[in-house]
Amino acid sequence: MSVYQATTSAPVNIACIKYWGKRDTKLILPTNSSLSVTLDQDHLRSTTTSRADPSFKKDRLWLNGVEEEIKDGGRMATCIQEMKRLRKEVEAKDSSLPKLSGYAVHICSRNNFPTAAGLASSASGFAALVSSLAALYALPATPSELSLIARQGSGSACRSLFGGFVAWQMGFKPDGSDSLAIEVAPREHWPDIHALICVVSDDKKGTSSTSGMQRTVETSALLQHRIAHVVPARMEAITAAILARDFDAFARITMQDSNQFHAVALDTDPPIFYMNDVSRAIIALIVEYNRVSVANGGKLKAAYTYDAGPNAVIYAPKENLKEIVELIINYFPQAEPFKDPFGLFGAAGVQGKVVD
Ligand code: DP6
Repeated sequence: MSVYQATTSAPVNIACIKYWGKRDTKLILPTNSSLSVTLDQDHLRSTTTSRADPSFKKDRLWLNGVEEEIKDGGRMATCIQEMKRLRKEVEAKDSSLPKLSGYAVHICSRNNFPTAAGLASSASGFAALVSSLAALYALPATPSELSLIARQGSGSACRSLFGGFVAWQMGFKPDGSDSLAIEVAPREHWPDIHALICVVSDDKKGTSSTSGMQRTVETSALLQHRIAHVVPARMEAITAAILARDFDAFARITMQDSNQFHAVALDTDPPIFYMNDVSRAIIALIVEYNRVSVANGGKLKAAYTYDAGPNAVIYAPKENLKEIVELIINYFPQAEPFKDPFGLFGAAGVQGKVVD
């Protein structure tokens, strides 16, 4: 008897140009393009196993060992259905293939980072789901083609199908067929950039991205300015900065875009606050660190960015990491020893824990 099963994994990505707003909530089509860096450590990943079997009665899903309902018409159901549709196309071309598209699937997914770390798991989760089904179904699809489906699970998930520097092109077609992720540059193009994650709070966020961004679309005048007059130029400028390995420009744009995203959240009615006092104190620290460097004739040395929560992600060239970690430890005394699961100074990346 044949066993039809595949396991793949996908990493978390952190946006430099933020996705915030949908023009189509069902297809998950964004109001602006976005760009992110996929974290390449093995420590921040979702790993998913999918199995198809004629004895399975219905599609089922387990997240971190707990079974979750797959709601009819929901995002998970849509992704599974879309993947089965692609398999069906392949089966139609080759009648010798087993008819896996007709079998139910069982899917098990695990994050190797604590959900409590306050890191978005939907991006890596849906990317791993789609890639494991693509492997199970032996689909000839490219990562960009798969990103069309991962996007319908969670917008930011489409970017986790690539490593390195990734753009999600908003597209213009109403059916979403051109709203997909593309690689801007592979990780090896600029291996010197690292991400330091400062966990300010591991509480579950107050306003989810999905509902928060919809409220912003409905009420924020600033968002309209951002999508029409700010993001298109920033996408071009940050792409050029990445291709030129120009950290100064990359850092400037990344921080500006994080600031504008949080300004847009504040411009929402009622307002949304994702950062807290510690988040703002980390911003002040990085601003001062950069100011001193520039005052001494140097360049920007670090860039902060914040998603829909208070935790900081700091991008920096490797040579500055030790100094940045020392600064953070100095100004934010740690309640617990600084967590360094990756071998702090010299590994592929570092993770810190800043305690409120
Ligand atoms: C602030 O992708 O989680 O992290 O599409 O509704 O699932 P849905 O939203 P999601 O939003 C991510 C928002 C962000 C910015 C970003 O990653 O670009």
